[in-house]
Amino acid sequence: MCGIVGYIGKHEAAPIILEGLSKLEYRGYDSTGMAIFDGEKIRIKKSAGRLKVLEELTHGGATMPGVAGIGHTRWATHGVPSDVNAHPHYNEEETIAVVHNGIIENYIPLREKLMSKGYKFTSDTDTEVLAHLIDYYYKGNPLEAITKVMHRVQGSYALGIIFAEHPDQIFAVRKDSPLIVGQNEDGCFIASDVPAILKYTRKVYFIENQEVVRLRADHMHFYNVDEEELPKEPVTIDWDADAAEKGGYEHFMLKEMYEQPKTVTDTLMPRIKDNDIVIEELGMSDEEIRAIRKIFIVACGSAYHTGVTAKYIFEGAARIPVEVDVASEFRYRKPILEEGTMVIVISQSGETADTLAALRESQKLGHKVLGIVNVVGSSIAREADNVMYTWAGPEIAVATTKAYSAQLIALYLLAMKFGKVRGTLAEAEFGSMLEDLKRLPGQIERLLANKERIQRFANRYIGAKDVFFIGRGIDYAISMEGSLKLKEISYIHSEAYAAGELKHGTISLIEEGTLVAAVATQDSLFQKTLSNMVEVKARGAFVLAVTNEGNTDIEKAADYCIYLPKTNQWFTNSLAIIPLQLFGYYVAVGKGCDVDKPRNLAKSVTVE
Ligand code: M6R
Repeated sequence: MCGIVGYIGKHEAAPIILEGLSKLEYRGYDSTGMAIFDGEKIRIKKSAGRLKVLEELTHGGATMPGVAGIGHTRWATHGVPSDVNAHPHYNEEETIAVVHNGIIENYIPLREKLMSKGYKFTSDTDTEVLAHLIDYYYKGNPLEAITKVMHRVQGSYALGIIFAEHPDQIFAVRKDSPLIVGQNEDGCFIASDVPAILKYTRKVYFIENQEVVRLRADHMHFYNVDEEELPKEPVTIDWDADAAEKGGYEHFMLKEMYEQPKTVTDTLMPRIKDNDIVIEELGMSDEEIRAIRKIFIVACGSAYHTGVTAKYIFEGAARIPVEVDVASEFRYRKPILEEGTMVIVISQSGETADTLAALRESQKLGHKVLGIVNVVGSSIAREADNVMYTWAGPEIAVATTKAYSAQLIALYLLAMKFGKVRGTLAEAEFGSMLEDLKRLPGQIERLLANKERIQRFANRYIGAKDVFFIGRGIDYAISMEGSLKLKEISYIHSEAYAAGELKHGTISLIEEGTLVAAVATQDSLFQKTLSNMVEVKARGAFVLAVTNEGNTDIEKAADYCIYLPKTNQWFTNSLAIIPLQLFGYYVAVGKGCDVDKPRNLAKSVTVE
């Protein structure tokens, strides 16, 4: 989704903004722009396309002098990606400029009202309404105008705003879209996410909903919507600055796949103490764990897939019924959350609009929510009643890999803990599962080391039209993620099916040479999946099998086999996903796709 960067300070603003925007490219965008106050007036340059177009247009910022400005990468919602619809947007006199991330839901009535007052619109965006509305309320006091606008608009917004009459200030405003501010001795910064300003400062402030920040070169002030000043403490970001860089890898996605052994270790090991699982941040007593009657897991995309995996483990190991729901469905379907229901939301970014809404809906219904979140200080992390962090570090590639792996670990730990406390998981099994968990990082490393073999196989499929992923039980959950990885970055149509469901319709799509990836890691379901493989092979499919070491029987039904090291049946997802991630990655690379920034996608989906 859109990215915002702003700067006011001792240095030229444009190069800092351009560099900051480059660190937000991962969020997904289709046009870019900047507004800089040049000492006389606000100049805007903007363009459809990649950031390099704006860099060329401004000679790396050199043609836009000035020490205060705002910049934007736009992911189109209202109006096509075009020069005109790109942000920033001006008021008519070009004395106010605005960049926006989010959606103004009531922009049509506001636009009509402003037009009736003589305002002229030049773009199709909802954002332009904001520029004119601020102008409408502006009587010399920017803060007053901004807070009046906040009372009028509905929807989500993170805004950067500059006023030609107040060139010593820039403004940041937020409601339901991410925005942070930071400061160093040379100036103050606005950004949608930490990587944009990490080079300049580690001291950041999280802006809460419906707060405004006035930034000057040497200080910042925070206000609520009633213009009352608010106290605010900075948070120190302790990431390694290299964590958000490619570090010699061709793509962030490849680097992040290679970080998975560490991610798994970092999420796992601090929570294993004296052969037990200790999740301090859970905030639940053993009695409360025993009282759980049902678990609702709510998430989107890959995070949803980890929830589907977890259902099998919670039900199997802790004997708690689990319902897993896509957040965009959950929020509108009047879910029945009875007494004793625990709600878990899962999100890498912690900013996914639908997941955040599901969290709020659950709280409104009187239920505590546990957030499994990667980004520290994100909206979900702040609003959940308890937060279990996945220590994956910054994930930049749009296609998630290491955060997905970390989410799985967090869920395994929870399910095992619940099973032990509730007495449904025998002590010996718990102990052997702990040992299996500790072996996962090394096993993932072994699978990653096999990347050339997967690459050779992937090269044969860069021309594929359709690919099917099949599996049963947890293998079905793995198939869903394998299929998503392939389609989102390579643009090849793919579907995941519960293997037994295939012959209820979809098998008619199998023709000579169609690739079917069959995941068969569950011993109790192995023969069943094998039969499904035979069925598709008989209809001409080329079958890629992913199974456990020793299951050589599979070679009767498969054309190509990938063997996984032995682990507990509930943890196979952590291993099986590695070759499937590599497969998706290498098909996309072979096709020449923009792997880290696939078309139409955004890293964090902050609008519904
Ligand atoms: O930040 P979140 O984990 O809430 O994001 C959820 C999905 O948008 C995300 O997993 C998406 O499906 C990824 N592109 C998958 O690679």
